[in-house]
Amino acid sequence: MTHKLLLLAGDGIGPEIMAEVKALIDWMNAEGIGSFECEDGLVGGAAYDAEGVAVSDATMDKALASDAVLFGAVGGPKWDGVPYEVRPEAGLLRLRKDLGLFANLRPAICYPALADASSLKRDVVEGLDVLIVRELTGGVYFGEPKEIKDLGNGQKRAIDTQIYDTYEIERIVRVACDLARTRQKRVTSMEKRNVMKSGLLWNEVATRIAGEYPDITLDHVLADAGGMQLVRWPKQFDVIVTDNLFGDMLSDVAAMLTGSLGMLPSASLGAPDQATGRRKAMYEPVHGSAPDIAGTEVANPIAMFASFGMALRYSFGMISEADKLDQAIADVLDEGLRTRDILPRGGGNGLTEVGTKGMGQAIRERFLKL
Ligand code: NAD
Ligand code: IPM
Ligand code: MN
Repeated sequence: MTHKLLLLAGDGIGPEIMAEVKALIDWMNAEGIGSFECEDGLVGGAAYDAEGVAVSDATMDKALASDAVLFGAVGGPKWDGVPYEVRPEAGLLRLRKDLGLFANLRPAICYPALADASSLKRDVVEGLDVLIVRELTGGVYFGEPKEIKDLGNGQKRAIDTQIYDTYEIERIVRVACDLARTRQKRVTSMEKRNVMKSGLLWNEVATRIAGEYPDITLDHVLADAGGMQLVRWPKQFDVIVTDNLFGDMLSDVAAMLTGSLGMLPSASLGAPDQATGRRKAMYEPVHGSAPDIAGTEVANPIAMFASFGMALRYSFGMISEADKLDQAIADVLDEGLRTRDILPRGGGNGLTEVGTKGMGQAIRERFLKL
């Protein structure tokens, strides 16, 4: 079966890391390891420059028609002044919302070879395997009203609205519990029920849904304390389920436990289709367009490779290939290859610094040998 992929490279380091994964897909096609039909599209600042919008209707149609979207990164200082509605990030948010990608899986895994690249002590992060399940189409990201009002007295009022309906919490908690069943069977729900009504409802619904899973243990932790616990002793967590904004912040925190933001992949999944069971899906690194290093060929492509690995696993059922790709990443790290972001502070003995292309080539060669 041929899988239709839409590649949206975006801005900054997006095209640099996407090119490495595209080269892997070309090799896989040439070797007959799966069959992928790739199409490129514009998103973010690149789309704004060419088409005046952050994602066009035509690109949205292509995304809807594809089996999965691979997304690089969007944004950058070049577009700081553009109207809010067409800023690069609006393209990403439209893709998530219009494809119905409510479940964002952000696994934070500390590869043994990288335990010294983290800013935390080795024993805190070594062996870490936490899965953050972030709600992705609700909450304060999309709630209305969302505006800046002129109060007419020299003052303005900025309004963002956090909204969660029961069904939105039910379905994301179910995703978390289903995934926990394949892991250590522990789910930690994070909200702020002490100050937010949405936190109160989140807590109540999470408790009820987890009750349908007698084999799963559910804990509740206030989201601020959750951030603290992630840094204090992250290995206490198995699956964390949380809302859109807390999930955004907590996953950047979790990224640093793995050594670098350049390591964290993600899968954004929709509900299974009633007839076919297939989910709409987009695979995107957790990091952004890294304008500070864009164009210098030092970006770490591992989060992008691992995001493609999640596509193999969750969209295409190519589990052994997904395992091989994860193994290829672990192997090149074991062999001592490092992009600059994962070199330990003060350098390291026996380690070789490589650029984006060097890391990409090494992962591809290793993958094909496995
Ligand atoms: P960022 O993630 O782009 O960068 C934060 C830091 O991490 C920078 O120092 C950067 O160099 C480093 N970094 C990130 N990815 C890396 C990689 N693969 N290899 C090596 N180093 C890496 O976050 P930011 O600087 O706050 O945001 C920059 C722009 O990206 C903003 O416009 C923001 O809105 C956007 N953004 C986009 C996405 C996305 O497209 N999914 C995600 C986050 C931020
Ligand atoms: C992420 C990013 C996005 C978010 C931005 C770019 C809209 O930070 O995917 O983590 O806030 O969700
Ligand atoms: Mn983020």
